[in-house]
Amino acid sequence: MTTDSTELVWRDATSDDATAIALLERELFGSTAWPQEMVREELEGPYRAYTVIEHEGSIVAYGGVLSVGGDGDVQTIAVTESYRGRGLGKQLLHRLLRDAVALGATRVFLEVRADNPVAITLYERSGFEHIGVRRGYYQPDNIDALIMCNRTLQEASE
Ligand SMILES: CC(C)(COP(=O)(O)OP(=O)(O)OC[C@H]1O[C@@H](n2cnc3c(N)ncnc32)[C@H](O)[C@@H]1OP(=O)(O)O)[C@@H](O)C(=O)NCCC(=O)NCCS
Repeated sequence: MTTDSTELVWRDATSDDATAIALLERELFGSTAWPQEMVREELEGPYRAYTVIEHEGSIVAYGGVLSVGGDGDVQTIAVTESYRGRGLGKQLLHRLLRDAVALGATRVFLEVRADNPVAITLYERSGFEHIGVRRGYYQPDNIDALIMCNRTLQEASE
């Protein structure tokens, strides 16, 4: 694909995006996808900031953060398959970190499947450290969740 990044539209997500994001959740996360009602609650909920990236009117990437009491969480981040590997995931993650700081976060946590090396590398290169493991957290596959934390938000979100 020869998409130029200038053709991509970045914007804040709204509850009108719930249906499209829920469809992408099913496609990208399968059995662990958020149901549409949960997506809608996230998009409408307080202390959150969600972003979508559109190309030719369709959402090609989305992500969101929650921040309460100085602790942020990357709630979700995803890039559709044919738009991967061109820096969108990294740029989106960095926007989420800036949003978390704007919401008052001084550190940001996330959980990632231990069998997702692409995401783990992205997080490591964006200032996240491994701080713990939840054994068998993802069921029924029985995959561990790695817990990661970014305490260097200013550097990572530049
Ligand atoms: C994880 C994900 C968001 C990355 O998005 P992306 O747009 O492809 O990522 P980028 O092109 O910005 O690459 C960012 C980093 O990811 C890593 N990466 C990207 N593609 C990779 C690959 N094929 N193999 C290994 N590492 C890879 C690299 O570290 C890269 O950084 P670098 O370019 O400095 O080397 C995307 O793969 C995705 O949506 N996956 C499915 C959903 C998912 O797993 N979300 C995370 C849930 S915790």
